[in-house]
Amino acid sequence: MPKVTPDLFEVLHDPQAEAVLARLYRAALKQGRTVMLHLLPKAFQLLGKGIDWKTEDEAFYDDKYIPIHPAQGSFLYMQARALNAKNILEFGTSYGISTIYLAKAAQENSGSSPEQVRGKVITTEYLPHKAAAARRNLEAAGLFDYVDIWEGDARETLKNLDTELDLVLLDGWPDLVFPIFKLIEPHLKPGAVIAVDDVEGFKPSMQDYLDYVRNPTNGYISTTIHPKKGLEFTVKIRP
Ligand SMILES: C[S@@+](CC[C@H](N)C(=O)[O-])C[C@H]1O[C@@H](n2cnc3c(N)ncnc32)[C@H](O)[C@@H]1O
Repeated sequence: MPKVTPDLFEVLHDPQAEAVLARLYRAALKQGRTVMLHLLPKAFQLLGKGIDWKTEDEAFYDDKYIPIHPAQGSFLYMQARALNAKNILEFGTSYGISTIYLAKAAQENSGSSPEQVRGKVITTEYLPHKAAAARRNLEAAGLFDYVDIWEGDARETLKNLDTELDLVLLDGWPDLVFPIFKLIEPHLKPGAVIAVDDVEGFKPSMQDYLDYVRNPTNGYISTTIHPKKGLEFTVKIRP
């Protein structure tokens, strides 16, 4: 993404949320050079077989946005609208960029009459300063009513999940994708969609997940799609 232009977010038809996204993506772009330099020694792996997350310094990412691409956000927003997804889960909030797309869908899917079920995004983040910033960003976008931020290690907080899920975005650290998926798997509705970012750059850390969801005997169909950047797109096809 070379620069931030308003057309990147126009599918949302929400000037308030779009302005917050533009501000956050500009801040993320400013970090682009630092992130690129950090990954430069591993460029061959990144563009080839992928990096093993275990070799990464997690502390480097403590103040990094590392968001989904706007094209992935638009795709997930439209997918959530198509599913009429009311129960959405996200692993990895960071500063709330992807959460804004999901929360906007939850808002639109809520309907206007009071008896209709409200849409909600549960999102998980273990760094308190990121969770606090995400809250402020979602409030600024006018979408915080549609979000619960579960602060803490998702491997613990998600043990309390008691909601049937329509759509899931797994975008926390890559080596946790499969353990988190197994934790939430009993809560997936038939037809549920699961999306995973960074599936190419960090493939070695997600091979366990890919092997599982690409084996149809486990009840899923799955492939990598490319809304400007690789996204593993999985559908639960059997109860
Ligand atoms: C790639 S960033 C998420 C980006 C975000 N989805 C977006 O598009 O703006 C990954 C985030 O997951 C968080 N995270 C990693 N492991 C976690 C865990 N075990 N529990 C909760 N959050 C975690 C990190 O602190 C980081 O903020």
